[in-house]
Amino acid sequence: MDVQDKIAVVTGGASGIGRGMARCFAANGMKVVVADIEAAPLAEVVAELENSGAEAIGVVTDVSKLDQVEALAAAAVSRFGTVHVLCNNAGVGVSDPVGVTSIEDWKWTLDIDLWGPIYGVKTFLPIMEAQGEGHINSTSSMAGLYASASLGAYNVAKHGVVALMASLERDLRLAKSNVRASVLCPGPINTNIVDSERNRAPESAAAHVGTEAGEKFWEMLTSTLSEGMDPDEVGPLVLDAIRSESFWVLTHPDMGNIALKQVQQMLSDKTLTR
Ligand code: NAI
Repeated sequence: MDVQDKIAVVTGGASGIGRGMARCFAANGMKVVVADIEAAPLAEVVAELENSGAEAIGVVTDVSKLDQVEALAAAAVSRFGTVHVLCNNAGVGVSDPVGVTSIEDWKWTLDIDLWGPIYGVKTFLPIMEAQGEGHINSTSSMAGLYASASLGAYNVAKHGVVALMASLERDLRLAKSNVRASVLCPGPINTNIVDSERNRAPESAAAHVGTEAGEKFWEMLTSTLSEGMDPDEVGPLVLDAIRSESFWVLTHPDMGNIALKQVQQMLSDKTLTR
């Protein structure tokens, strides 16, 4: 799809990967609707985009609430007339072994990381189908392709996002639609995801178990991500997928080998890789 003068909506656009996408889309001639649950950084991003000469609006949105996602679409259509690109990017993470993960942690993670993209597809797809053009990208993770220990709720959500987008893309192709779908599976990116709990209601956060294994994993993740890719490098990869109608967007293609190895072992000795 040619993106010049087209309208993009980016959720989780006030920080990290989403902010990088918003910057990249604006720099490439798109009008951008930035959505985020955090109002102050959202306003800063919108001001930055406007100062660069782009047209942009910010809409405070909790993607885990269908009515707020619908209000986001209404605000985008009201300001710009339509939407061509949706990036379901907002996400959070929490770490603990599956057996002890609290129901609150499951719900918090799945509501944002999986229901958010489902609500996005449900709400924005009809707008794109009506105009006969569009692209929906959702941010999964390498955790959508390989389920490590100590990250069960996140892995389930991110595997769900890959399945959602692959199902959608195949449905669209079967229907000969001009709307496309793609999935972003980043490796380590230096963002604020390790501070996800900043966006959590205190009563929900209080139910986080915080096991030693979970804490250790989070420490390791924090250190790995601090040396990760600059989030501004990710937007151009997503833009390229939109332009070239690719499905898979991997920031660290070499890491795909962990998924490949798992499939090979599934077909050979049928044991699970480490
Ligand atoms: P980040 O924390 O820097 O940005 C996430 C944004 O989502 C924040 O601005 C936050 O306020 C917003 N957000 C959180 N809950 C929300 C809600 N309920 N409604 C709307 N907005 C909400 O983190 P990052 O890393 O940029 O995360 C973006 C996506 O990338 C997430 O889906 C994450 O799971 C995914 N990801 C990140 C990786 C990394 O290494 N940083 C690796 C793989 C995937």
